[in-house]
Amino acid sequence: CGIIGYSGPLDAGKILLDGLSGLEYRGYDSAGIGLCMEDTSICIAKKVGKVKNLREYCEANVHGTAHSGIGHTRWATHGGVTDANAHPHRAGRVTLIHNGIIENYHELTEQFHLEGQLVSQTDSEVAARVLDALYDGDPLKAIQKLQELIVGSYGFCILFDDQPGSVYALRKVSPLVASYTHAGAIIASDLTALIPYSNQYFVVPEDKIVRLTPYKVHVYNMDETFSKVYPEIMTVNWNMDAAMKNGYPHFMMKEIHEQPEAMKNTILPRISKGLPDFSDDKIPDEIFKDCNQIHIVACGTAMHTGMVARALMEPILRIPVTVTIASEFRYEQPLIDEHTLVLVISQSGETIDTLAALRLAHEYGSKTLAIVNVKGSTIARESDYVLYTHAGPEIAVASTKAYSVQLAALYMIGCRMALVRGKFTEKQAMDFLSDLLDVIPAMETMIAQEQMIKGVVSHIIQSLDAFFIGRGLDYAFSLEGALKLKEISYIHAEAYAAGELKHGTIALISDQVPVIAIATQEHVFSKTISNIREVKARGAFVILLTKEGSVVDDNLADIRIRIPDVDDRFTVFPIAVVLQLIAYYASLGKNLDVDQPRNLAKSVTVE
Ligand code: G6P
Repeated sequence: CGIIGYSGPLDAGKILLDGLSGLEYRGYDSAGIGLCMEDTSICIAKKVGKVKNLREYCEANVHGTAHSGIGHTRWATHGGVTDANAHPHRAGRVTLIHNGIIENYHELTEQFHLEGQLVSQTDSEVAARVLDALYDGDPLKAIQKLQELIVGSYGFCILFDDQPGSVYALRKVSPLVASYTHAGAIIASDLTALIPYSNQYFVVPEDKIVRLTPYKVHVYNMDETFSKVYPEIMTVNWNMDAAMKNGYPHFMMKEIHEQPEAMKNTILPRISKGLPDFSDDKIPDEIFKDCNQIHIVACGTAMHTGMVARALMEPILRIPVTVTIASEFRYEQPLIDEHTLVLVISQSGETIDTLAALRLAHEYGSKTLAIVNVKGSTIARESDYVLYTHAGPEIAVASTKAYSVQLAALYMIGCRMALVRGKFTEKQAMDFLSDLLDVIPAMETMIAQEQMIKGVVSHIIQSLDAFFIGRGLDYAFSLEGALKLKEISYIHAEAYAAGELKHGTIALISDQVPVIAIATQEHVFSKTISNIREVKARGAFVILLTKEGSVVDDNLADIRIRIPDVDDRFTVFPIAVVLQLIAYYASLGKNLDVDQPRNLAKSVTVE
């Protein structure tokens, strides 16, 4: 969910609604605001649907001015998508919005005899009612008591009826950043809501109480005297332009186009004398030397970059590289120890499962290196070392440029490791890096072919199912191709290791099922071609992705898409562009919401 709070001289309603539009990618099934009006009454407006609905509703129904308030855009966890379940929740003198999950809401409902009083099905309303029960005129004390009682993850923004002009906030795990700006005091779950007003911010420390007033942001310890805390001020390295569509029809298209630039920003500052160099990132070579295995943990698209990294690194480094989905890893007893390098990958740096996996890795004594896009995010702060990708803000729910730059970072890590472990000579490492740089023009070449890819996609948008097949690295890319297509076009897609298809799945192949076959790996090329023949023989419509120079029979595929002849290990970069464009045009062709597909959210801070 996205949350925002404001106190200051300006029109709070406008600031909150604008902020929610910027935060909408964190959840968009319903939205709401709570305003402290000039006459000190509290006004609540909440609506199912996107922020646009809420804005229209507010224009017609909210009269008068407010200078403080809170706003929320929801990704449903407890309770269906209804106006009643939308936030804010109001209980007595308390109005509250919440991001996260209160795990013991059931126990609290019993303990505070709330049965029968609740008007929604949310855990958040339980928190509001408990807080009201604890409130005796001292917000800090009541919030402290609430924090002692609740179990789970939370980012709260709270209004008390008798504290006009003040917005209180508290967080555990769920992210919150705050800033005092020329426009007043602002707090939000995400920087996108703050940057229109300031490039300076601080990360709200866990289990401290924040109070916004029109002129200040105060942070209090939860000790006897509520002593003040002064968190470190950070500076954002991107501006508002980066978070706008800038003439593109969708954020996803803009972000696909931004990939070559993002690649340069991520790679170039880390090349010194032709070799990968992480000294500015303060990542010591010891972590690359003193390990006998690599374990990669992440979710979604980030996890798929791990699959590529595994296929790339194992043959070079000759040590085990394991990839585990973070939500599984955190409840396993992973075979890791102090000689394991755990790579944690996350665009947002806030995904709760990935964060939990990171913490578990620390319990096992492993060294952790995070690859993160959002500066100062929780995962970046908690890992031993961090390698920032420089993709700029990624707003479309379907990840594109973050995928490419995470791969670039992993390729550079692989190269540095190979060098310090004696698996690459300096010459080999230099050549590897120069091959990595060559992918940038190759990506540009594929971006320039977007109209051709749009034409190709017209053949598959009526399909209910699709398969992506490949071997080795090509299989690793297929995973992401299938995910992208599913996420935004709702065509059911599966990635399959090409050689495995015949062991059952080929039963699903028919002339209704397109197969996107990727064959860029020379050492398994002829094997993949045989597998393509097998599906073609069963009627599949085959879209073949190969390198320019590969020779194949004309009748092998219905359509062939050629990528530039980069080295086999690097084909993922131009291929990723093609797969992203296939998903994009499939979504567009079906008239779907490309940037905000149903049921999903960009950053998932619940487990
Ligand atoms: C969500 C998004 C995915 C993303 C995943 C991991 O599910 O919809 O696109 O890959 O989270 O996000 P992270 O921020 O950790 O990379």
